[in-house]
Amino acid sequence: MQKINIMQINPFITTGYISGEYFCDREKETEHLISLIKNGNNVTLVSQRRIGKTGLIQHVFEKLKTDTELTTIYVDIFSTRSIEDFIKQISEAILKKFPDKTTIGKTFWEFIKRLRPLITYDNITGDPQIQINYQTENEKTHTLQNIFELLEKQKNRVIIAIDEFQQITEYPEKNLEANLRSQIQFLKKTSFIFCGSKRKILFDMFSNAKRPFYMSTQFMLLDKIDRAKYADFIENMFKKYDITIEKEATELILNLSKVYTFYTQKLCNRIFSYKPDIVCNKNVLSSFSEILEENRLSYLQLRELLTKAQWNYLIAVAKEDNLSKITGQNFLMKNKIGTASNSKRLMEALTEKDLISELPALNETNYTINDVFLFHWLRETY
Ligand SMILES: Nc1ncnc2c1ncn2[C@@H]1O[C@H](COP(=O)(O)OP(=O)(O)OP(=O)(O)O)[C@@H](O)[C@H]1O
Ligand SMILES: [Mg+2]
Repeated sequence: MQKINIMQINPFITTGYISGEYFCDREKETEHLISLIKNGNNVTLVSQRRIGKTGLIQHVFEKLKTDTELTTIYVDIFSTRSIEDFIKQISEAILKKFPDKTTIGKTFWEFIKRLRPLITYDNITGDPQIQINYQTENEKTHTLQNIFELLEKQKNRVIIAIDEFQQITEYPEKNLEANLRSQIQFLKKTSFIFCGSKRKILFDMFSNAKRPFYMSTQFMLLDKIDRAKYADFIENMFKKYDITIEKEATELILNLSKVYTFYTQKLCNRIFSYKPDIVCNKNVLSSFSEILEENRLSYLQLRELLTKAQWNYLIAVAKEDNLSKITGQNFLMKNKIGTASNSKRLMEALTEKDLISELPALNETNYTINDVFLFHWLRETY
């Protein structure tokens, strides 16, 4: 096996995507997503936060790089607040993808320039940044339409992934959903991956008969990575760097992090950073405590942001683990929550704040604290 310079990189990445080498499994999901795209479907990719949606899209796009008939464009709209921002983000992603030397790049630049934008370049990446002053709402719709028409005109099929798509429901303008839908349905060479973690919002957007996007995309739910595959990945990765990890320690990592991608990566990343010769339970536990200790301040800050009732409710949910009966007398009494409707209201508020996820199972709904480290900290502290 090829030896890698240990100083170079921590192979357990905790942000972004590097390459397939640092990416655990997702083989079936990758294949499935590629097949959906290649068959001209629009896809809505949904999961809890930090499971690996963005990573999967990057991985799929990396694989498609060698496909000369496809062009992939990734747009993250998390920070957008309006249709204007949305158009800006998409335009910049396209400009970045098609340099102005290419035919499509030239046409696109000409089109953008006709809108008399202010063009600046990012100091670090050199990527173009545009600012357009629109006169009317109509102009915005028109711009979006023109952008899609331009994409349709070029040789390749285009896949646009729009990450954090639920964000469009926060825009003050309420017509984007209908607008996008009416334009997208006529596109022949452009498909979309709509991605996000607000399951309720996205489900409603795409499966409510009264909403414009009704039935227009294929849902893809991303689950946790298979436990056995993650265990292999962890062991092999350590081994590559001449570190032996005991079976027990791998299991402990997966138990503590609940096989939840970001938390598993984070814990492994910390353990690796000490470059021990052997990883045993002791190493896992000390790295784990360290992370909880480092996060303590932000947890205490979180407490300040919640009402006392919400904070106590969060603790109650952490203590229960895999809670399903939030209106059960037992849960209400034990935690002094009051009425069933009180419990529902608190749960709604905490879900809205992204602190708790509702996970629908066959016969019930399970509720879990999103942040696995916060979950442990609450259990340990209270
Ligand atoms: N298959 C994988 N193997 C290893 N690391 C991964 C994998 N998928 C994701 N990651 C890492 O896990 C973390 C969370 O992944 P990612 O950001 O893709 O999740 P997400 O579902 O898009 O989260 P959010 O909903 O918050 O946007 C990232 O640090 C990413 O690098
Ligand atoms: Mg993401």
